[in-house]
Amino acid sequence: MDFRVRAATKEDCKDISRMIMELAVYEKMPDQVEISHKELERDGFCQNPFFECLVAEVPEDATRTERFTVVGYALYFYTYSTWRGRAVYLEDLYVMPAFRGKGIGKGLLCKVAEVGRKKECVRLQLSVLDWNTPSRDFYAAKGAQDLTASEGWHFIRFDGQNLDKLANEAPKD
Ligand SMILES: CC(C)(COP(=O)(O)OP(=O)(O)OC[C@H]1O[C@@H](n2cnc3c(N)ncnc32)[C@H](O)[C@@H]1OP(=O)(O)O)[C@@H](O)C(=O)NCCC(=O)NCCS
Repeated sequence: MDFRVRAATKEDCKDISRMIMELAVYEKMPDQVEISHKELERDGFCQNPFFECLVAEVPEDATRTERFTVVGYALYFYTYSTWRGRAVYLEDLYVMPAFRGKGIGKGLLCKVAEVGRKKECVRLQLSVLDWNTPSRDFYAAKGAQDLTASEGWHFIRFDGQNLDKLANEAPKD
C-alpha cells in the first residue's frame, strides 16, 4: 500500500488524539484517557517537547471508507539508561484496523529506530499488555527481547494521591 511516514505537526494532534482513544479502546482501558488534542499540542509542540510523534498517511482515495488520511502514529520520547546511555521509549504504536498488515506498523517502528539511532540511542524500549499477543508477536518477529520473561522486570507507577504524597514529603530546599 502507498503510505508515507512523516513527523507529526501541531495540526495532526486531533488525529493523534482520536487514535490514542482508539488504541485505549483496543487495550480495554478507554476511561483512562484524560488528555485531548489541546494537551498534545501544548506538550509536543513547545520549546522543550515532552514527546515526539510520527504519523503514517495514506492517499485520500485509500481512505474512502474511513474518512481519514492519517491512519497510524508512533509517539516516543527519550530516556537514559545508567548502564547503556541514550535510549528511546516508544509509548504508543498504532495503525487503524483497516490499514493493518500492509507494512505501516513496521514502517513506523523502523522510523522510530532510525530517529533514535541518529541520536545515538542504543535502545528502543516499550511496554505491551500481556494478552496482546498479536503485538507481542509483531515485536518479537522484529527482534525485540521480552525483558519481563528474561529478566523479571516489573513496570511500576506512582500517580494521583500517592504521587502527591511523595512530592509533599520531599526534603525542603
Ligand atoms: C501492532 C501494529 C502496530 C502492527 O502494524 P501493522 O501495520 O498491522 O503491521 P505490519 O503490516 O507493518 O507488519 C509488519 C511485519 O510484522 C509482521 N507481523 C504483523 N503482525 C504480526 C503478528 N501478529 N505476529 C507476527 N508477525 C506479525 C508482518 O507479517 C510483517 O512482517 P514482514 O516485515 O516480514 O513483512 C498494529 O497491528 C496495531 O495497531 N495493533 C493494535 C494496537 C497495538 O497493539 N499496538 C501496540 C501497542 S504496544
